[in-house]
Amino acid sequence: MNVLQSLEQRLGLALTGLVDSPAEYASLVRASQDARHGDYQANCAMPLGKLLGKRPLDVANDIVARLDLADMLEPPTVAGPGFINLRLRNDWIALQMQVIAADPRLGVSVVANPRTIVLDYSSPNVAKPLHVGHLRSSIIGDSLTRLLRFLGHEVITDNHLGDWGTQFGILIYGYKNCLDKNAYDADPLGELARIYVHVRRLFRQADDDAEGDDPVAVACRLETAKLHAGDAENVALWQQFMPHCLSEIDAIYARLHMLPFDHTHGESFYQPMLADVVRDLREKGIAVESKGAMAIFFGEEEAPSLIQKSDGAFTYTTTDLATIKYRVEQWNPDEILYVVGSPQTQHFRNLFIAARRWGYDKVKLEHLPFGSVLGTDRRILSTRRGVELLLANLLDDAHERARVVYEESVNRAKQEASERGQEVEELSAEEREHIHDVVGRGAVRYADLSQNRTTDYVFDLQKMTATDGNTATYMQYAYARNRSIFQKGEVDVDALRAAPPVPELPTPHERALAIQILRFPEALTAAAADYRPNLLTSYLWDLAKAYSGFFQNCPVLKAETPSLRQSRLLMCDLTARVIAQGLGLLGIQTVERM
Ligand code: ARG
Repeated sequence: MNVLQSLEQRLGLALTGLVDSPAEYASLVRASQDARHGDYQANCAMPLGKLLGKRPLDVANDIVARLDLADMLEPPTVAGPGFINLRLRNDWIALQMQVIAADPRLGVSVVANPRTIVLDYSSPNVAKPLHVGHLRSSIIGDSLTRLLRFLGHEVITDNHLGDWGTQFGILIYGYKNCLDKNAYDADPLGELARIYVHVRRLFRQADDDAEGDDPVAVACRLETAKLHAGDAENVALWQQFMPHCLSEIDAIYARLHMLPFDHTHGESFYQPMLADVVRDLREKGIAVESKGAMAIFFGEEEAPSLIQKSDGAFTYTTTDLATIKYRVEQWNPDEILYVVGSPQTQHFRNLFIAARRWGYDKVKLEHLPFGSVLGTDRRILSTRRGVELLLANLLDDAHERARVVYEESVNRAKQEASERGQEVEELSAEEREHIHDVVGRGAVRYADLSQNRTTDYVFDLQKMTATDGNTATYMQYAYARNRSIFQKGEVDVDALRAAPPVPELPTPHERALAIQILRFPEALTAAAADYRPNLLTSYLWDLAKAYSGFFQNCPVLKAETPSLRQSRLLMCDLTARVIAQGLGLLGIQTVERM
């Protein structure tokens, strides 16, 4: 159950008859920042006072008198100019803990009106190795997929690969002119990567898209043009290269623990449709001829979007328009979301305007931009010691860092145990390797997702794997430590879950933890509403803090009475389950023993 939503609903009922649009005012309920003002606060009396020409204090008292929430709340109080403070009843909270414990979804219901959502993310330009720039789209898109699906939406994931661009002209030129055949037979992907870099170095200027007048760049461009024109040899080479490119990105996706995509319709998939798209846009008067090219205009001040260049070539925009048409016809979605970096904001703005003019005005089109990953020098992280920083290397570093952090902590624990004359149980080499993996990629994912999506962030492995901050590593340790209580106490967790008690919540620490657990659905709803996974990480961090307050003050295995022990075990178990579920929605794993 979503407490915030229930409060809004009931407040709405209390406001009916007082005002024409109760929902608008009922939505002014917030979780309190300060426990002294109750658990939630309704702030509607002030604007309502203005509207009704009454004193907010009188309005607030009037609302309180009409509010039918006695089962859930202690009698509400009015403070200051007209704040209504709402405090949940302890017996009600305790009952909810029992309900949540028996619910595999931990109190999170599926949405009443599921939407069909196409999620376009990752979408790298293939044929060159993935670099840091591909990290955020992949991780954010993957987490949003998990979150939206969990809430009951139908999410169709589509990896819009850049698989038809100028990079293939570079590869084809390299293959024809500088191939080491033996190397290619032995390791096709390695040789393709070498060729790519080698040819790029032959250009006199830095020229990512082979656009300059450098003779090699011109030759590469010619190979691309031949490919696009259907030249048999070049098309065959493209077909030969693609599986290698795909296996490279799949390997990275596996290392990032990403869900498989439902569809991988890259740019090449849409090529046969582009001429029709241009014809249709022209016939409808949406695109017009301009300097020998076909363009869509957005007003005097703005640069137009080209959909066909004067040499006949179609563009990124043309493909994206064909993609919208295809997705709408194929899946009839309510929303199409694009997880793509902020530099493409203008592209999407124009694309959406063009699509709406073209008749795709029912589907919600939204660009979810994100900021850059910075190095510790606060510059965009793209190279290391002048060499392009590949995503694979970055993940290697994270894995290595996780190994060091974990093994150090194991050694410390061993040392401390031996000083006490005890021994710690050794995990197998295999189990430890798995932990390094889980901790390494968890750190990378969490650090990314815990940032406000639109801001830049510094990639700092030291901080990302800190065992005492808002990191995946901290959460994973908190989870494993929690699990060890059950091991140590030889508690039958399944039995506890099958017949959970109504827990006693005698201390403020237990109450605070229970409220935090109760707020899980609110956090998920907020994160999904705004497509912001960082609202989920903030929630988990608050939960972890509440748990640590509880754990330091409330003995569990040594609780005063058997029923208090059961209560506290239940609170521990609920915390662990919410952490695991919350991390799971971020694509981060937990381990039972660390
Ligand atoms: N391949 C593009 C790039 O790397 C991103 C594609 C995003 N999706 C889209 N439908 N335009 O910049």
